[in-house]
Amino acid sequence: MISSLGINPHECEAMFEDVPTIAKKNAFVVNNSRNLRRDLDLTQPANKQLLAKNIFLFGQCMEGTQFYGLFGMILSLYRQNKFPGIGQMFRYTLRDESNHIEVFRNLFMDLIEENREIWTAEFKEELRATMAEAVQLEKDFIRDCLPVNAVGLAIDEFLTYIDYIADRRLEGVGLAPLNAGVKNPLPWLAEMMDIKKEQNFFEGRVTEYQKSSALTNTSDDDL
Ligand SMILES: [Fe+2]
Repeated sequence: MISSLGINPHECEAMFEDVPTIAKKNAFVVNNSRNLRRDLDLTQPANKQLLAKNIFLFGQCMEGTQFYGLFGMILSLYRQNKFPGIGQMFRYTLRDESNHIEVFRNLFMDLIEENREIWTAEFKEELRATMAEAVQLEKDFIRDCLPVNAVGLAIDEFLTYIDYIADRRLEGVGLAPLNAGVKNPLPWLAEMMDIKKEQNFFEGRVTEYQKSSALTNTSDDDL
């Protein structure tokens, strides 16, 4: 997807190390998954918790919450008829992410259901603390992206949206919210994601500035 936009993907990868707020988000994920090994003894409750925590972290914290910072900002521009090509790509990406988040959620719920002994008060609090850390890291990233309110983007709305979506993810797996009662500041975002599955990506109108060749060479699976 990145190379289809004429941007060097290696440069983007380098940003993972060069931009502190991105590097910290990356470290958050890597540090939590490091101990997951193929030969992990999954008869041990501590290892079951480690697996469950990683499923929660990738599905609900990273994809389910942190992804929505950037998605929200890009789609807000799209809603103002800016970046129509990238906006459309993000809508399709977000539709797919919704499926990933739900798959991870189902996996997590089944794992807990089959291993009730790991669903302790301490473990629940550990997961809520993990989400709180993900929220903090994402907010730092949003502040980096939007040092001032500009081009119709109000930073407070995106920060609050992260609180809102994080609580929906927590509730989705039976955990207490971090900011009970927080309202959704971006209600239009749900509509934006509601793309009919049967609508074909390649049948869409070629957007104004997008090179048609870039789109026709891109498989839906690559997005
Ligand atoms: Fe995903």
